[in-house]
Amino acid sequence: MKKKLLAGIMAGIMALSLAACGSGSSSAPAAEEKQDAAGAATEAAAADDAAADAAPAEITTIADGVLTVGTSPDFAPYEFYYIDESGNPQLAGFDIALAQRIADNLGLELKVVPMDFDGILMELQNGNIDLGISGFSPSPERAETFDFSDLYYMGGQSFVIRVADKDKYTDYAAFDGLPVGAQTGSIQMGLAEANTPNANIIGLPKVTDLINELLSGKLEGAFIETAVAEQYIKNYPDLMIAWEVPYDTEGSAIALKKGNDGLREAVNGVIKEVLADGSMDEYIATAQDQASDEGSVYEGMLDENGEVQESADEAATEAAAE
Ligand code: ARG
Repeated sequence: MKKKLLAGIMAGIMALSLAACGSGSSSAPAAEEKQDAAGAATEAAAADDAAADAAPAEITTIADGVLTVGTSPDFAPYEFYYIDESGNPQLAGFDIALAQRIADNLGLELKVVPMDFDGILMELQNGNIDLGISGFSPSPERAETFDFSDLYYMGGQSFVIRVADKDKYTDYAAFDGLPVGAQTGSIQMGLAEANTPNANIIGLPKVTDLINELLSGKLEGAFIETAVAEQYIKNYPDLMIAWEVPYDTEGSAIALKKGNDGLREAVNGVIKEVLADGSMDEYIATAQDQASDEGSVYEGMLDENGEVQESADEAATEAAAE
């Protein structure tokens, strides 16, 4: 809001000074009279551009000097935990690399806050994070309440099943009455409701939960982002993509609280840069490499000591073995 006003004032000043410059020349008053709407618009746009160049929009973040980013690290290769050589979990993924680049370019310190996907937009709305970088689809429903950056990645949607069921499940009707999963709070829940309305639709907090339940037979199918599905299938060859799922709002964007125009413009500037200079391709390649490094990927949450939390299943298996 503040920034918009500022840009408006700047544009006004620029227009005034342009008019002042012109007034000395003989053509100025005549030009003013003859000027058609299109001409005025062009001039206004030029003045806007000049204003933007002259005064970069003010960037406000919730904590001074810090860019606070919410993400749900269950989503390789977008965001996940990578176990480094010393056995320490590190946040990795192309969303994290992009977040770091945005912070670096803006001269801010990056603080990534891991949380379940379902909570990110609420944290954004409550002013606890500046950006949601978590493979967000900028759906029209979300755009009513939140602003989105330009797209930084194009991906599709997939329906995932076990390879063993390949011949059994050849269309959505085969899932009537059966458990089909999607991540809670994701657009995939909507895809499940639209495509498998008669299935027993189960929302789970993490995509890694969906994978576990597919592998253990608690789910028969799941709606998952294609890049993520492909990554998990590489790591778990018992799973496969049954088919692609059409979805209107393709691509991933960064979510912002409405009206934070300075930050949104700055973020868009960085996105433009990483797409143009090949950095984004590098971030994706690195993320895919790290996510394919068998035994080194952990997509779940960490406990309060920063330690890897074992899944309930693992804990149960261990307890049984003792
Ligand atoms: N693109 C989907 C959505 O916006 C799923 C994103 C899930 N992201 C994650 N990190 N789990 O709803």
